[in-house]
Amino acid sequence: SKKEAAAHFGAGCPEPRPHVAPASSGGPAHGMGWRRRRRPFSLLPFLSLRDYGFCMAALLLFCLGSLFYQLNGGPPHFLLDLRHYLGNSTYLDDHGPAPCKVLPFPSQVVYNRVGKCGSRTVVLLLRILSERHGFNLVTSDIHNKTRLTKNEQMELIKNISTAEQPYLFTRHVHFLNFSRFGGDQPVYINIIRDPINRFLSNYFFRRFGDWRGEQNHMIRTPNMRQEERYLDINVCILENYPECSNPRLFYIIPYFCGQHPKCREPGEWALERAKMNVNENFLLVGILEELEDVLLLLERFLPHYFKDVVSIYKNPEHRKLGNLTVTVKKTVPSTESIQILYQRMRYEYEFYYYVKEQFHLLKRKFGLRSSNGNSSPRPEFAIPSPLETEEPVTEDEEQDDEKWLEDIYKR
Ligand SMILES: *[C@@H]1O[C@H](CO)[C@@H](O)[C@H](O)[C@H]1NC(C)=O
Ligand SMILES: *[C@@H]1O[C@H](CO)[C@@H](O)[C@H](O)[C@H]1NC(C)=O
Ligand SMILES: *[C@@H]1O[C@H](CO)[C@@H](O)[C@H](O)[C@H]1NC(C)=O
Ligand SMILES: *[C@@H]1O[C@H](CO)[C@@H](O)[C@H](O)[C@H]1NC(C)=O
Ligand SMILES: *[C@@H]1O[C@H](CO)[C@@H](O)[C@H](O)[C@H]1NC(C)=O
Repeated sequence: SKKEAAAHFGAGCPEPRPHVAPASSGGPAHGMGWRRRRRPFSLLPFLSLRDYGFCMAALLLFCLGSLFYQLNGGPPHFLLDLRHYLGNSTYLDDHGPAPCKVLPFPSQVVYNRVGKCGSRTVVLLLRILSERHGFNLVTSDIHNKTRLTKNEQMELIKNISTAEQPYLFTRHVHFLNFSRFGGDQPVYINIIRDPINRFLSNYFFRRFGDWRGEQNHMIRTPNMRQEERYLDINVCILENYPECSNPRLFYIIPYFCGQHPKCREPGEWALERAKMNVNENFLLVGILEELEDVLLLLERFLPHYFKDVVSIYKNPEHRKLGNLTVTVKKTVPSTESIQILYQRMRYEYEFYYYVKEQFHLLKRKFGLRSSNGNSSPRPEFAIPSPLETEEPVTEDEEQDDEKWLEDIYKR
């Protein structure tokens, strides 16, 4: 945090060693550090040039050490990506000219939004932002097709690539490999959430809609039989209904794994490939539970798209739109059912925890506190999320209710 950093800085001057080389500072050094700390303080007004020089050298050493430590703290790919976007940091050319402070401006961004992970809110924000900052927001009319044939992929990629730049393309679609078809790989962003929470949100939303009213679900899923609509979630889980079993529960990973058929088979292969893609192609994968921090980081990384997003999001005028959300008639499944779900979704959780850890690492690097730092191995279904709905879903595919979104936006 900032406070911590400030504290380190204050202490860093007279006592840099423990930070730079913790291994070499044993017990005695500690006592020395204490003694030294008092001296410069009392002598402060009479600092000689030599003391001053020593102090600055120590500070520099501390900064370099700290930077070095930070840059070695995380997975290399992720950092490479970050460095790519933030420019080469000073640790390489510290004595050269001042580093370029202007972020490179990626002009092709893809948000292949995962269903029921806050994307409706983000799309709403994007509409406001695209008008304000003048980028090209490209949304798709197809809301229920996440996997594509090879030809469809080729066509879509060609289509996206011809969009006027800078663009931000968004659609519910599994990861597309642009370079496979000779295109420039765009910058990807995405948001995910606790897998069981996502599943429950979808389960009840399909049946009962949200606060927009009882009528809503009739319009959305008019052909749903009453037995299905009122199916007890515990029965669904315990009696292995397809909706509550794999492969339908293997939902988030394919968005990051890609279009390969194996990406939809619950297993290590898809999980590892999804992780690899997160590292290599995604600038940021946020956690819905910490949406405000996600927006903050987006604002830092992609200012040309997301500048002011946090203030827009916090604006009471728009804030009431955030309340689009509470899914009605939500009941919490029994502990036994949750345990079973957790078992069935173990790959999804492994991925979720991986992404969450990366996200927290990134937050720390940028001085944001990790509010939910305790990575409990338990699903967090009991913790209410800031946003509780989004894409309606027909069968196992999603469908965006864009028209409704526009209505709200116009109001
Ligand atoms: C960053 O450093 C790498 C390797 O030293 C170099 O290839 C690249 O061109 C540098 N990028 C910038 C923006 O200076
Ligand atoms: C997607 O929706 C369209 C119209 O809403 C429908 O014609 C089409 O069959 C749907 N596709 C899938 C894969 O569900
Ligand atoms: C490509 O873009 C054109 C015009 O924007 C649109 O009519 C067409 O349906 C798009 N094709 C695909 C595959 O998205
Ligand atoms: C994308 O396609 C390229 C070229 O075919 C391939 O080398 C790369 O491994 C692919 N990446 C992913 C994540 O599928
Ligand atoms: C959310 O919206 C509903 C329906 O408009 C309203 O009844 C409720 O009071 C709102 N909740 C908050 C916290 O604004």
